[in-house]
Amino acid sequence: MKEQLAKIQAEALSAIAQAASPAALEELRVRCLGKKGELTAILKQMGRLSPQERPAMGQLANDVRAAIEEALERAKKDLHAKALEARLQAETVDVTIPGRAVETGRRHPMYIALDEIKDIFVGMGFDILDGPEVELAEYNFDRLNAEEGHPSRDWSDTFYFDADSRVMLRSQTSPMQVRAMDSRKPPIRIIAPGRVYRKDEVDATHSPMFHQVEGMVIDKGVTMADLKGTLNMMVEQLYGKGTVTRFRPHHFPFTEPSCEMDVQCHKCGGAGCATCKGEGWIELLGAGMIHPRVLEMAGIDPEVWSGWAFGMGLERTAMRRFRIADLRLIFENDMRFLEQF
Ligand code: DAH
Repeated sequence: MKEQLAKIQAEALSAIAQAASPAALEELRVRCLGKKGELTAILKQMGRLSPQERPAMGQLANDVRAAIEEALERAKKDLHAKALEARLQAETVDVTIPGRAVETGRRHPMYIALDEIKDIFVGMGFDILDGPEVELAEYNFDRLNAEEGHPSRDWSDTFYFDADSRVMLRSQTSPMQVRAMDSRKPPIRIIAPGRVYRKDEVDATHSPMFHQVEGMVIDKGVTMADLKGTLNMMVEQLYGKGTVTRFRPHHFPFTEPSCEMDVQCHKCGGAGCATCKGEGWIELLGAGMIHPRVLEMAGIDPEVWSGWAFGMGLERTAMRRFRIADLRLIFENDMRFLEQF
């Protein structure tokens, strides 16, 4: 029995020393010390020993058990330490490697220009309105005095959703004038920026989607002088003091009189160059005194109230503000372009 115990101990200790994983150790523990293990099997034979032999053999069996338990415990700790060491090695952080730069976003040049425009008008007491891009032809045309047959209603210019030409992508932000008149009582001071859509081919100055900012004032005793004064002030704040403008007569169905406002070319100072196509001036917006019929259709008495309105192209404004030569740059989202602002 003594030899058997010594053999169990020797075999167990050598197997434990070779065990490569916690699972292997557990298997050994069960095999040596478990209920059906080798040591237990020996202890069951103790009954056969004489009472004199028993204490010494019992003591020996306990020593063997303790030795195996201790070896298991030590091996377990060693394995654990090795695993930790391996993990630390594998997960070493090299703090000398240069970090990956975080790319911060920035505002799009067109929205920088829009923010400036908003600031200018908010500073003069205007509210900023937002409205639908899918619009009723009633608001985009009829209520703006552009009746059936008006050339701008043509299918070749406008994106319609239905065969009756009643629902469309707005071709201008001017329907926001109607929405403002319907939802507010005069005096009214609003600007309404947003996207508009027309069937244009893409080139350096055209896009089927672009942005406008609509502006409108309705009050008592409002005149064309207020319109010119306000727009001149906006232009000076946007482009710098002393920027020269001119107002040319024009026609829009919803204003009378109507005009277009040009800004003197920033490149040539009015002499004529490639940027202004030899004109010396760059067209910036359409404007005018709100047509009495437009006020009437909104239930506003033109004998009491008068108003002016304007609609400006936002891309064009930003292009002039940041001296951008090609409209397509605004929409392409090329980082090399956008990073410059
Ligand atoms: N909606 C016009 C356009 O897209 C621009 C315009 C002209 C707006 C005169 C106005 C205005 O508010 O009074 O060409």
